[in-house]
Amino acid sequence: MTTTKTLIAPSVLSCDFSRLGEEVEAVAAAGADWIHLDVMDGHFVPNITFGPPIIKAIRNRTDKFFDCHLMIAPADPYLAAFAEAGCDGITVHAEAGPHLDRSLQTIRNLGKRAGVSLNPSTPESVIEYVLDRLDLVLIMTVNPGFGGQAFIPAVVEKVRRVKALIGNRPIRIEIDGGVSPETAPLVTAAGADVLVAGAAVFKGNGIDAYRRNIEAIRTAADLAVGRAA
Ligand code: DX5
Ligand code: ZN
Repeated sequence: MTTTKTLIAPSVLSCDFSRLGEEVEAVAAAGADWIHLDVMDGHFVPNITFGPPIIKAIRNRTDKFFDCHLMIAPADPYLAAFAEAGCDGITVHAEAGPHLDRSLQTIRNLGKRAGVSLNPSTPESVIEYVLDRLDLVLIMTVNPGFGGQAFIPAVVEKVRRVKALIGNRPIRIEIDGGVSPETAPLVTAAGADVLVAGAAVFKGNGIDAYRRNIEAIRTAADLAVGRAA
């Protein structure tokens, strides 16, 4: 039993982009722990979102941890720009390049927390030899590219396996895709401690709705593992 609450990381992918700064402030005030930033390049994933200038523009809206999820290939040429834009953690996809070890070293050398993300079909064995370079493993429970997709239950077993691989190392397990009060308990019971949620947080309008949505996910997640309120 742990006393740490599950961290909730709302993805701005589902917010009103015409009011991005206000949406970041609202979700932070509503109880978000981290702000999840989905960067897409139209090449690694079939969608395009935003890059360093937009992240830099919203950096002064909150002190919350900026959790940057790079769905771009190659990632290495852009890591410094995302660090300079104000990201606190930078996560690259294991599938996005041949030199994962180098990418993770680069992120840490920039003074940022290093993460690796695994697509649903990618086995957990890809992290076996980089465990000591990792601060976070981001396990995709949808195929990356879009918000609002259905959670893939087969990935829950991978969460269990990643938890076993990590052992006692201080590495967080983050889940991304289709997280809701219904699916959150499945992944926290398997070992996850950070949950990304887009559609389930940004439904309804404004701080009160966001607060209810975040609390509903966190409560369901914490109940499954007996975490203290
Ligand atoms: C998908 C993104 C996710 C996405 C999650 O490519 O990485 O962060 O926004 O959205 P929901 O919670 O709506 O599945
Ligand atoms: Zn994401």
